[in-house]
Amino acid sequence: MSLHVLDVAENSIDAGAGLIVITLSENEKEDSFSVQIEDDGKGMDEEMVKRVLDPFFTTKTVRRFGLGIPLLEQSCRESGGGLHIESAAGKGTTINARFRKSHIDRKPLGDMGSTMMTLIGGHPEIDFELRFEKNGVADSVLSTRELRKELEGVPLNEPAVLKYIRENVNEAMQEVY
Ligand SMILES: Nc1ncnc2c1ncn2[C@@H]1O[C@H](COP(=O)(O)OP(=O)(O)O)[C@@H](O)[C@H]1O
Ligand SMILES: [Mg+2]
Repeated sequence: MSLHVLDVAENSIDAGAGLIVITLSENEKEDSFSVQIEDDGKGMDEEMVKRVLDPFFTTKTVRRFGLGIPLLEQSCRESGGGLHIESAAGKGTTINARFRKSHIDRKPLGDMGSTMMTLIGGHPEIDFELRFEKNGVADSVLSTRELRKELEGVPLNEPAVLKYIRENVNEAMQEVY
């Protein structure tokens, strides 16, 4: 799952986002697990949103990762969930991937710490937020805005800072499967 998050967040970065908010939510009563990625990038018009689910559609000349949104949608469907895209040109995009938590084919969360470290290390100028919501109660795991204040000028892509980010996120996500 963390590789999908990396891939979808890279789309947000390509779209010129300044803030990317990633929310992981778990709901035991609904037996659901969802990943939402919200950005304030250039967005997409309706036509484009429809085309994005087509595995052969890309506005890039070369696919760097080859995961893409169609594969994420497939993985949602295979585990009893679905993918929802909300976007407006000039405003931003929200992608919500929902899975049935107990489904045998649902991929585990994976290494979210490394995903956050890769995103922040590669794009220290962008702000990222990672939230975790359990049964409707939300908690902030990481906010680069807050971290910047605490660091008092030390850059986010300093190796010690990135290591701290990875360890901190993985510790917070320990119980999340
Ligand atoms: N958050 C986003 N904001 C704006 N455009 C997006 C966003 N996510 C995806 N897109 C558009 O959808 C296309 C397909 O995305 P994706 O399936 O990840 O494939 P790829 O990134 O390899 O092109 C992108 O090339 C881009 O034009
Ligand atoms: Mg992509």
